[in-house]
Amino acid sequence: MSSPILVTCGLPYANGPCHLGHLRTYVPADIFVRGLKKMGKDVLFVCGSDAHGTPIVVNAEGLGMTPKALVARYHQHFDEVFKGMSVGFDFFGDTDDPACHNRTQEMVKALTDGGHVYPKEIELAYCPKCERFLPDRYVEGECPYCGKPARGDECDMGCGRHLEPGEIKNAVCKVCGGKAEYRKQIHYFFKLSEFKDFLLSYLETLGGTASARNYAKEWVRQELKDWCITRNMAWGVKFPGHDDLVVYVWVDAPIGYIAFTEEWCAKNGRDWQSYWKDGAKIIHFIGGDIVYHHCIFWPAMLKGAGYTLPSAVVASGMLKIDDKKFSKSRGNVIWVKDDYLEKGLHPDLLRYYLASYTAHNKEVNFSWKIFADKVNTELVGAFGNFLNRALTFTVKNFEGKVPQGEIDPELMARIEQTLNEVATSLEEYEFKKAADSVMTLADYGNIYFQSHEPWKLVKSDMAAAGAVLHSCLQIAKALVIFMEPFMPSKMQNAWKQLGQEGSVAEKPFLEALIPLEEGRILGTPEILFSRMEEASVKELDRIFQDRVEKAEFKGKAEEKTAEKKGEISFEEF
Ligand code: MF3
Ligand code: ZN
Repeated sequence: MSSPILVTCGLPYANGPCHLGHLRTYVPADIFVRGLKKMGKDVLFVCGSDAHGTPIVVNAEGLGMTPKALVARYHQHFDEVFKGMSVGFDFFGDTDDPACHNRTQEMVKALTDGGHVYPKEIELAYCPKCERFLPDRYVEGECPYCGKPARGDECDMGCGRHLEPGEIKNAVCKVCGGKAEYRKQIHYFFKLSEFKDFLLSYLETLGGTASARNYAKEWVRQELKDWCITRNMAWGVKFPGHDDLVVYVWVDAPIGYIAFTEEWCAKNGRDWQSYWKDGAKIIHFIGGDIVYHHCIFWPAMLKGAGYTLPSAVVASGMLKIDDKKFSKSRGNVIWVKDDYLEKGLHPDLLRYYLASYTAHNKEVNFSWKIFADKVNTELVGAFGNFLNRALTFTVKNFEGKVPQGEIDPELMARIEQTLNEVATSLEEYEFKKAADSVMTLADYGNIYFQSHEPWKLVKSDMAAAGAVLHSCLQIAKALVIFMEPFMPSKMQNAWKQLGQEGSVAEKPFLEALIPLEEGRILGTPEILFSRMEEASVKELDRIFQDRVEKAEFKGKAEEKTAEKKGEISFEEF
């Protein structure tokens, strides 16, 4: 087998339920991994919960629970939703796992020993009333660059800059609302500025989406400031030698990728170093909003500590709903569990939508209306219809057995062409292109069936009719194999209908070129996809519109009280 490949997905914060925006990254990554397996690659797929950081602590405090309990709750939630969506991680860990604590400490020590970390005194926001320092989300104030209201770690309403500890002006404590003061404290910094030349040449070779690479290059060319990697908190990974400090969440979170690899390897008799020390192919799938961390901080950390560098960063475009920017506080959100899975909708339909709507790095727009249209025309009308026609016709006229007769060589060539297109597109992270190629083959199948008129042939030339159906069923077989990465459980069902054994997920793409055995008994044809009726589309949309209206109402009320109090209100993402 070829050298191992590791695929990871950005770790979801264990701080709230899974929404459609999350799936924009996880579903295509899963499709990619399934595709690689079908190309015979040795691939490992890991992810896990991002357990640390101030938002989780602030939230847990608000809910009267420990951060650990909050993380456990959402960890389980994400695990369930991913399983429900057939996103099949080999390992789904948690950055509070001992493996992640250990690996983080080891890497921080390696970076320190290598001279990449230094202490520096800085002035930090401190709340005299709460008697504590105010890291990241504990503090709000003004952006020092553009003057807009900002959070402690990010100018989210203005220039979008990442803010370093101590940078925020006019700091206010988020817990008590009181004015903060600034106090001196020693913190530790990672010499990111030293990695400028390395990053410039590394980014030239980095694979994945061009948008991620170019965005990162721009940043590196402009400015690389050293990076404060410690925080005054109890929740997190202890900074070695300092019991009162933890490392910044963006240090231990990506180290989770390594820790999860270690955990999986320990259970499966593999060597984690073959992934992280000996130059395996490492491919990170992430949301478009965390390119900075994955293309700049992370490779610099890996380089400094002596680990394998990622070979690709694949960043997904954003998600819109009803053509409006995704926003939880505006109610412009679809919750995967409540609004989709628990409504009895099949995961594969959504997987298909997310992958085939547009190119991976472009914006996806979701609406129930478009969802229903795509299901009805593409899955029911084209794909499902073809499969059903080929199968029911065979059952009716050929005793449910694969008929005898030569498979049309031209058609076989079409299948081979599709195979090449699907494989190449997947390797280039062009998921829509891959899905479209499969759908084009389904259209070809429908046309082939229609134009060869087997319903006439069975009356005049049974042998010719047999050849047509054998050919059509061969297309059906290929379609099911090619579509499995996109719609795994629907395709498993179709695989059975075709009278095939075993798991279609384990069949290589090349199996599509092996002729269906004549005389093989087919399964019972079933409708694979059913039409989405207008009434149910309306009902789903009504739930969504109600939420938007309620949020608007609530937003207006809050704006009024905020104006009165002179407070700033924040959009939460
Ligand atoms: N939890 C982060 C987010 O949702 C992503 C962390 S990805 C990792 O933005 F690389 F740090 F692991
Ligand atoms: Zn700003």
